[in-house]
Amino acid sequence: MAGKLKNGWKGRDVISSLDFTRESFELLFNASEEFAEGARARARARSDLLRGKVVATAFFEPSTRTRLSFSSAAAKLGASVIDLSTEVSSLAKGESFSDTLAMLDSYSDIIVLRHPSEGAALYASEICKHPVVNAGDGSQHHPTQAMLDLFTILRLKGRVDGLNYLFVGDLRYSRTVSSLLFALTRYKPGRVTLTSPPALGLKPETRSVLVRYGMSVREEQNIERSVESADVIYVTRLQKERIPDQVEYQKLKGSYRLTEGLLEATKADCIVMHPLPRTEELPTSLDASPKAAYMRQAGFGVPVRMALLSLILGVA
Ligand code: NCD
Repeated sequence: MAGKLKNGWKGRDVISSLDFTRESFELLFNASEEFAEGARARARARSDLLRGKVVATAFFEPSTRTRLSFSSAAAKLGASVIDLSTEVSSLAKGESFSDTLAMLDSYSDIIVLRHPSEGAALYASEICKHPVVNAGDGSQHHPTQAMLDLFTILRLKGRVDGLNYLFVGDLRYSRTVSSLLFALTRYKPGRVTLTSPPALGLKPETRSVLVRYGMSVREEQNIERSVESADVIYVTRLQKERIPDQVEYQKLKGSYRLTEGLLEATKADCIVMHPLPRTEELPTSLDASPKAAYMRQAGFGVPVRMALLSLILGVA
């Protein structure tokens, strides 16, 4: 439970957003502010903060933003990045995951891991002496995405508490959705509404975690109705790679979409977020709208990960 969790960051593993208190998040966001746009001069002055440190990235699943924003964050702070290129490493010769992790651990100061299997990051943290950061494992946890999502909300809406949140899309297999919902249990959100095709509703185990922390969510099938009162709309793509049945995937493909008409029906100061990559659920015709926050959200990945690396490595 939150009460037993520590607030500090030094030397910590980052496995689930449930491992963190509101105080930890606030420490991170204060540090992120220093590295964000507008405080660039200060960030530049501190660019050797991680000189001599080695950040290892090991991505067993595709990634653009998470991998590159971690690498960019490390580079901006003067650290070196070593990347386990999974296709050309000795994994291809049959080396085990645990031996691979042991090598990463001996060559680096922190390991950033993405893996298709749930529990992979926790397993890695048990093997490695150095901190392990979960950059997404399975369909439940992607804690650093939840952190940059919260930072985006704070930056663009000024607060997290009291806002109405609407989650749209594949809520069953999107780990960014469950991770952000878990992180929101540390706050006092207003109404939390879930809109998805019935087959893509929140997993019962995710819902029971929310219930355990006293967070109520409601389902609303009618997207026209659900967009009206939202302050933050969080859209996700259909997680093709995690849908077990391709016949089912074909049925669900294109089953939800945030249209221009729906965007017009939202509050004037509503923001639309998306972890990206997008497919057809978020048409590019929405990009010019001031409500479209997803590109700025992706950009915040760098300052938040700069803060995260510096706090964990004990230099912030
Ligand atoms: C997400 C992920 O990997 O879960 N991507 C990301 O990190 N921004 C979302 C997705 O793949 O849909």
